[in-house]
Amino acid sequence: MPNKKNKKSKFYVTTPIYYPNDIPHIGHAYTTIAADILARWHKLSGNEVFFLTGTDEHGKKIEKVALEHKKTPKDFVDSLIPKFKDAWAKLNIKYDRFIRTTDKEHEKVVKEILQKVHDNGDIYKGVYEGYYCTGCEAYYVEKDLVNGCCPIHKTPVEKLKEESYFFKLSKYQKKLLELYKKNKRFILPVSRGNEIVNRVKEGIQDLSISRTSFRWGIEIPFDKKHITYVWFDALTNYLSGVDYPSGNFKKFWPADVHLVGKDILWFHSVIWPAMLLSAGIKTPKTVFAHGWWTFNKEKISKSRGKVINVDELIALAGVDSARYFLFRETPFGQDGDFSELVLIDRHNNELADKLGNLVSRVTTLAEKYGVDKCKNKLVAKLKFKEINNYIANYELDKALNLIFEFIDICNEYVQQNKPWETHDKKVLYELIDSIKAIAIVLWPFIPETCEKIAKNLKFEIKSFEQIEKSLEPQKIKKAEILFKKIIIKSN
Ligand code: MSP
Repeated sequence: MPNKKNKKSKFYVTTPIYYPNDIPHIGHAYTTIAADILARWHKLSGNEVFFLTGTDEHGKKIEKVALEHKKTPKDFVDSLIPKFKDAWAKLNIKYDRFIRTTDKEHEKVVKEILQKVHDNGDIYKGVYEGYYCTGCEAYYVEKDLVNGCCPIHKTPVEKLKEESYFFKLSKYQKKLLELYKKNKRFILPVSRGNEIVNRVKEGIQDLSISRTSFRWGIEIPFDKKHITYVWFDALTNYLSGVDYPSGNFKKFWPADVHLVGKDILWFHSVIWPAMLLSAGIKTPKTVFAHGWWTFNKEKISKSRGKVINVDELIALAGVDSARYFLFRETPFGQDGDFSELVLIDRHNNELADKLGNLVSRVTTLAEKYGVDKCKNKLVAKLKFKEINNYIANYELDKALNLIFEFIDICNEYVQQNKPWETHDKKVLYELIDSIKAIAIVLWPFIPETCEKIAKNLKFEIKSFEQIEKSLEPQKIKKAEILFKKIIIKSN
């Protein structure tokens, strides 16, 4: 059961800011839903929460797509932002701020950080000569390439030679290794952390942080000929998003967790903390890297039409089933395979048959025979502490497994006690009060369904402390069907 003595604190969670070069897809939705689940969980724990998401709007990649659409970069991104906001609204994602890197306040913070790092002697002028992948917005050296192509996009890289400012990343090798040693939770999952530590031990090179061959970016404050490298600009959103150096920054920094995909872990666990160390700002507590979704075992790729966008995801079985599937199917942190059939299977067999059926059966019986308030011994079988620990370790699938174990226990309780024969009002009360607890712990994952349950039982989901407060006995009404089964037509 929730521990009342737990000190209330703050929780600052971020998603990567997405490139608005197309409409959002399942990969973007995955991290954003994860952040929403964590934000909602912490709210129920009584913590003050700040959840930041947004878009990464500068750089060559955006400039190129805008040109293809015969638009200016700003007009082009302006046309896509509503699609992101819309997608998040449809998925029931409740962020606190949507930051855009073209926001004036953000641009100001980027310049401030650049100036600070410069003043600390960590920026010098040179010439960058090497490779660049616009898809990744990343620099590569010869040995990284696969047949002359980007190892991630498998497309040809560009050969660059241009005047550039460099950030003395190499200077921070020792400090970064100390940080990883001191804070064992700085990079999670631990296995991914070990890979980073080994790479940093091998040595890190200074980073080119400005470009002169195109203009779509934030001017370098000490040399207007240069614009800021898009990753230096983008990472700074985590500070500007909380109004660095005042306002929410004071309350929420350091971030509790930056959720990122495994492909961008290097930027977040090496470059970002080094930038902060140089600017004299505290480093975040955790960077958590999740895995990648494939689609029917194939890499999600626009060119092969293997992209599942947010509308398609929702159309399969509804918002809550999509949210549930993504976090039950695969351990957060590992790669997963997206299959429409498996999603529908889980919708039918778990959400409809286990949760939906429990709510429907119990409310039907309670409407018929009434409930009688008593001590609820059944709810003690909900392993809240373990579930809470799993969430603290980002083991969202394990948390869901335990919640569903409790749903199974409740279904068995109905079978064993046969309230349709005994008309036992106390048993029905225990079941109704346990359904209340289920609705609270499942709310972060499937909020719409849980709010329907709460409305039916006439309470509002606010805090985990409600689990311990027995529901007021009342006239129960049979609940509407929560999940309609989906019949798969075979061709
Ligand atoms: N703009 C940068 C992030 C800057 S954060 C300071 C960026 N944007 S992105 O739009 O390309 O990708 C954002 C996220 O989507 C990444 O975390 C990436 O891992 C994730 N995904 C993209 N495709 C994915 C899957 N197929 N599966 C899971 N996540 C994937 O990178």
